[in-house]
Amino acid sequence: MKAGRDTEGIVAEFGRRYPKEYDFYDQAARLTAQVLEQDLQRAGIRAIVTSRAKSLARAVDKASQRAAKKGYTSVNDVYQDIVDLAAKYQAITYVDDAHGDGVLGENGRGIANHFHLEGKVDVDMGTFSKAFGCVGGYVVGSKDLCTYLQNKVRTYLLSGSQPPAIPGACIAAIQLVKKNPSLVKKLWDNTRYFKKALKDLGFDTGQSETPITPVMVGESGKAHKLADEMFKLGVFVLPIVFPMVGKDKARIRTIVTSAHTKKDLDQAADAFEKAGMKLSLI
Ligand SMILES: Cc1ncc(COP(=O)(O)O)c(C=O)c1O
Repeated sequence: MKAGRDTEGIVAEFGRRYPKEYDFYDQAARLTAQVLEQDLQRAGIRAIVTSRAKSLARAVDKASQRAAKKGYTSVNDVYQDIVDLAAKYQAITYVDDAHGDGVLGENGRGIANHFHLEGKVDVDMGTFSKAFGCVGGYVVGSKDLCTYLQNKVRTYLLSGSQPPAIPGACIAAIQLVKKNPSLVKKLWDNTRYFKKALKDLGFDTGQSETPITPVMVGESGKAHKLADEMFKLGVFVLPIVFPMVGKDKARIRTIVTSAHTKKDLDQAADAFEKAGMKLSLI
């Protein structure tokens, strides 16, 4: 893919082509093995595609609770369930690995590797704009799928290619991660450290299990205020507000990197403490 918006383009194309057979964003949270099976039986829906790792994570969370009751042992089983169900009903599986690339799996190879499902996901999409610090994205799939997307996807057609420096930087970033497993380890050390610091301060850090840690605020206006206060204290953070999230689910989205030092993380946590107290969040 030449630039971002990969998901949007691909989903739009699937939606245009199979409007009755696909059930997108509003159903994404229902992408559980159980619900998928019910929907397929009841309505003859041939596939449900979720475009967001977050929705999938939520759905998997629910599915894993159900799975626990059924005697499954881990979330891993749920992912395996989804892949198995897809095979059974000839459904398509689509992973948006924006938050998993460079983070999960062996040497940051992503969520499919983490759950030993490499080669079993039909559409594996990721972005270079997060862990790899660049821009652009990719889709891994069958040759037919890739040829089809190259010829049909709205966000790919009639737009200019990336200048050579961009794929060059993406390749260099991927090679760095591949050659230095310590980077992924440091990322996770920093992640655990920062999550704990925020939790110890009394912040609600949501459900995230990745280095992207939300600081839940609730109201959109308050999330903007918190970001402004943080900026005054020398820390740049972005508020994520409606319609990106529900009206009462505004938050600050934080992300640590392997380049952060403990001193950096302490400084950010101190700023959160001051700003959070000022806005009566903690
Ligand atoms: C889950 C998820 N998918 C896709 C994207 C889009 O990434 P990009 O802007 O690189 O296209 C994002 C960006 O925040 C994301 O969080």
